Amino acid sequence: MKLFIDTANIEDIREMASYGIIKGVTTNPSLIAREGRKLEDVIQEIVKLVDGPISAEVKEASAEEMIAQARELAKIHKNIVVKIPMTWEGIKAVSVLSKEGIKTNVTLCFSVSQAQLAMEAGASFVSPFLGRMDDAGFDSEKLINDIVILRDNYGYATEIIAASIRSLHHVEISALAGSDIATIPTKVLKAMIKHPLTDKGLKIFADAAK
Ligand code: E4P
Repeated sequence: MKLFIDTANIEDIREMASYGIIKGVTTNPSLIAREGRKLEDVIQEIVKLVDGPISAEVKEASAEEMIAQARELAKIHKNIVVKIPMTWEGIKAVSVLSKEGIKTNVTLCFSVSQAQLAMEAGASFVSPFLGRMDDAGFDSEKLINDIVILRDNYGYATEIIAASIRSLHHVEISALAGSDIATIPTKVLKAMIKHPLTDKGLKIFADAAK
């Protein structure tokens, strides 16, 4: 499973990319707003740090308006993936953009039916939101497992990005389900390396080396 970083913070992206494990970046309007910067400016910097898919989200609007926004975003860099919301207008936009070769990531996916619509429209990526699914009292593990089964049953080319990741549990259920990608906030990425027995073992070896 490829690891993407789910942030618009340049320093976090620079640090995590330096470990050689980050294959892409996802942003959303909330993450961009947190940085207090313009989407285009942030994206221009990110493409210099990570050579992989970089998701930048359009504002929800009519299909025609989202297509126009998407064409502008796609001009910034070849790695730009346009994030499109899970609405009928969004699906219409994805159908047009996929034929133009513009990469898309259909976001806010909470069901197998929604994932199927994104796949049928030719989306490059679809993003099931695990954390928000759990917050609402539903089963995120079933969601990611079922969307992988859907993809495998029909051989869709759409890659699955497990998103809204809040914990190592979310990372691990996504990997074991066979998700192509998980997009992970910095805090959870940093937690992936931690284990108390590793810390204990490091101390034992360091003491012995003295
Ligand atoms: C990624 O594409 C999503 O925008 C992100 O994972 C949402 O996460 P959240 O539910 O923590 O806001």
